Order: sequence, then structure tokens, then C-alpha cells
Amino acid sequence: MTNAQPDRSSQSQFGRLAGAYGASKTHAQAGALASAASMLTDRRYGTAMDIGAGPGFTAFAVADRCDRVIATDVTPEMLEQARSLRDERGAPHTELMLTAAESLPCRDASLDLITCRTAAHHFLNIDAWLRDVHRALTPGGELILIDTISPDDTEAETWMHGIEIWRDPSHVRNPTQAEWLSAIERAGLRVVETALSRVDLEYPDWTERAGMPEEEAARLGQALRDAPPAAAQAFGITPRADGLIEFYWPILSVKAVKP
Ligand SMILES: C[S@@+](CC[C@H](N)C(=O)[O-])C[C@H]1O[C@@H](n2cnc3c(N)ncnc32)[C@H](O)[C@@H]1O
Repeated sequence: MTNAQPDRSSQSQFGRLAGAYGASKTHAQAGALASAASMLTDRRYGTAMDIGAGPGFTAFAVADRCDRVIATDVTPEMLEQARSLRDERGAPHTELMLTAAESLPCRDASLDLITCRTAAHHFLNIDAWLRDVHRALTPGGELILIDTISPDDTEAETWMHGIEIWRDPSHVRNPTQAEWLSAIERAGLRVVETALSRVDLEYPDWTERAGMPEEEAARLGQALRDAPPAAAQAFGITPRADGLIEFYWPILSVKAVKP
């Protein structure tokens, strides 16, 4: 699969689940996933693009600071969710565009802001994507990237990767913080701000949201209970007496500027 082709596994995964994501409290709550709006510079932006916009939560969060926002996603059903939330959120100048992240349909140096929240771990080639982000940004333009990351501990990272792919076959990889920062700089962008946070998750809500069949979800729940100590510690895995399991993934938020 080349970078320019749509990611069909994401389309099928998120196409099935667009309604659940549109209604997801985890994704709607800015606090839970760190808000892109909190990283905006104190200025008005011209044209912004939110990549992997899903139901549009991030696009709507920055919309009142931008003249024009283009919410892009590879999954038509997700953009349908964004269409119905758009009026509710009062962001009529948010346009919707069906496109894969790896080939942004815009002229060189035409975007003042690019946001991307909890989507980049689905992208097939992070370096190619970041090169395209660099091409599309105006000089002084900003990238705000927020995503789950892998911990530095190799055992915990390998375990997390197995669990993520198991739950969602369209998952590609969570780079570590160091890998993200060097990839961003390698693409010619300058990192100006970083923040670490986490997204609190709960089994079985997490597997239900991914549409996992019940038996498979039960096996994954057992794998959470049986996590090796390095993973249990890195992700705060806490089984509760009522059968629920609490845990979290680490989140990296980065703001980078095109010089
Ligand atoms: C977990 S949702 C995140 C939605 C949203 N950004 C948010 O902050 O709530 C991930 C989104 O990434 C989209 N996606 C996955 N791979 C993509 C790709 N290669 N290009 C564009 N969008 C992609 C999926 O269709 C899905 O809507």
C-alpha cells in the first residue's frame, strides 16, 4: 500500500464505529485527551486543517480561533458524524473533506495551522506524513499533534502494541516521545512545546467502543489482568472487584512550528 492510498483498514474499522465515536465521552472531553486549543498561540489563524478529524471534536475546539477550518478524514461515516455535530457545536465555517492524511489535498504553504489528535497512530508512514505537513504549512505555521505514545520500557511497549492491534486492526504504531520529537525535527519543523498527560480507559467500555466480539473482548480483558509487571506499572492497570479494569495510555502533545 502506498502512502497516497486511503487506509482501508481504518475506513472499515471506523466506518463501523463512527456512531460510537461520535457519542464517546472519552473523545469528546477535551480534558481527558489534552486540548489542542490550549496549545494555540495568542493570535488569529487563517486556514486550519484537522487531520483524522473523526467526528470533528478537535476541529470544533479550534474553530473559533480560525477563519476557516477543514476537517479531513479517510472514513466517510466519520465525516457524516462531523456534519451532524457541526451545527450543534456552532462551527459553520468548518468544511469537511474526505482524504487520507498521507497526501494532503492543499497547495504548498497554504495552511496556518494543522491539528491532529489521536489519529496519527493509524498512519502508515509518519515520516512521509510529517514531510507533507511541512510542505503544507506557511512559514510560521503550526502543527499541534496529540496522540497516545509508547513508554520507553521495551517490554511494556511490546505488550501495549500487541493489545492495541488486537483491539483495533487499523492500529499501526504508537511511537515513543523521543521518536516523535526526532521525526518532527527531521521533517524540518521546530518543536516549541511539549506536554505529557494520559487518557484514562476502562475495560470493557474500551473494547465495546472498538466493536470487539464478546468472547474476544473477554480474552483481551484476561490479558489485561495477566499483564506483565512492567506493563501493569506503566499503564496503571487496576482490576476492580466488579470486573471492570482501569488503566491508561500515555499521551504526548506537541506544538511545532515551520521556521
Ligand atoms: C480515534 S479517531 C480520532 C478522531 C478525532 N481526531 C478526535 O480528536 O476525537 C481516529 C480517526 O483517524 C482516522 N484515520 C485513520 N487513518 C487515517 C488516515 N490514514 N488518514 C486520515 N484519517 C485517518 C479514522 O478514520 C478516525 O476517524
